[in-house]
Amino acid sequence: MDCVDCHNRPAHVYLPPDVAMDQSFAAGRLDPSLPYLKRQAMQVLNKPYSSTDEALRSIEAGMDQFYRINYKDVYATKNSSVKEAIREVERIFQTYIFPEMGVDWQTHPNNIGHLYFSGCFRCHDGDHVSNSGKVVRNDCTICHSVLSDSASPATAAATAGSFKHPIDLGGLSDLRCTVCHKGDNAFQHPVNLGDISPFQCVECHPRK
Ligand code: HEC
Ligand code: HEC
Ligand code: HEC
Ligand code: HEC
Ligand code: HEC
Repeated sequence: MDCVDCHNRPAHVYLPPDVAMDQSFAAGRLDPSLPYLKRQAMQVLNKPYSSTDEALRSIEAGMDQFYRINYKDVYATKNSSVKEAIREVERIFQTYIFPEMGVDWQTHPNNIGHLYFSGCFRCHDGDHVSNSGKVVRNDCTICHSVLSDSASPATAAATAGSFKHPIDLGGLSDLRCTVCHKGDNAFQHPVNLGDISPFQCVECHPRK
């Protein structure tokens, strides 16, 4: 095993749009009071474009229209936030997606981690075996010390615990993270069942 098995993207780091948007919110470069800003931005960031110019025009038009048509009040009272959001989403596009070169965050996956790309789980899946015959384990705790349950921060002391997925996945919890976490979109159910928002995953996918 060599350094480049894990460090496969020296220098320029290509963040998935999902992560880039979260970082911009955290850095205060996006106004979180704009309705559905992340969803709308992800839509215009993830269309296929043949040039950067075309992308920038489409990002500007797509976002401007969305607020102008659907949220007239917001568009009037928070116009500068809308314009700033457009500039920020354009910046994200120009930092991570290069249509002329056919290069983006998907052509250069990041193997450090396992949420959006298999990364460590390419070998740490419990199925691969080392040369000396040991199973390459996928037990979370060989790499992580889970300190507390973030779902109930008020009661959480800094004690060792086990990872609780933020929503109860029931019988699906042993699937790879990458089955559901895509980096360019919120989770979409693989079978179109209409609106499943009143239900918990575990109601239809009971624990085995
Ligand atoms: C088993 C996977 C793996 C291998 C093999 C590996 N690394 Fe790393 N390395 C990591 C992880 C995980 C981090 C932490 C990255 C982070 O915090 O984003 C890291 C961090 C680093 C950092 C610090 C980077 C920073 O931004 O602070 C350096 C330098 C580094 N590795 C060099 C090497 C070198 C040189 C080799 C080969 C001799 C090597 N690594 C092999 C997984 C690996
Ligand atoms: C190319 C295959 C491969 C990849 C990719 C890989 N590993 Fe490993 N890893 C191994 C093997 C093989 C072992 C040794 C298993 C043994 O003999 O116990 C190991 C062992 C480890 C151990 C010690 C585990 C233990 O049971 O004590 C840690 C920690 C670890 N790897 C971290 C990482 C991290 C973090 C990444 C991703 C950044 C990663 N590995 C990616 C193959 C891999
Ligand atoms: C072989 C080592 C390894 C194993 C096993 C492992 N992880 Fe990770 N995990 C990593 C590395 C490396 C990262 C990325 C750290 C970084 O980007 O600085 C990561 C990132 C994460 C993140 C943060 C994701 C994000 O980017 O927001 C979560 C949550 C997580 N792991 C949960 C788990 C859970 C749950 C398990 C067990 C099912 C698990 N991990 C097993 C190495 C491992
Ligand atoms: C069966 C599907 C599924 C699997 C498998 C899955 N997740 Fe999730 N995860 C979700 C859904 C659905 C959400 C709710 C947020 C959303 O809709 O994107 C979520 C939310 C999260 C969040 C909080 C929101 C975020 O995106 O940061 C983290 C962290 C997370 N998952 C980590 C993991 C890790 C680590 C693994 C693998 C060990 C994993 N998940 C496997 C479906 C899944
Ligand atoms: C109303 C019932 C229902 C709810 C609620 C539901 N699912 Fe499903 N799901 C199904 C059905 C039916 C299938 C297709 C049959 C199957 O594979 O079990 C399916 C299949 C899947 C699959 C593909 C199965 C596989 O093994 O690859 C995934 C992944 C999945 N669901 C994730 C989720 C997640 C995550 C949630 C919660 C956010 C969820 N489902 C909520 C009914 C539901």
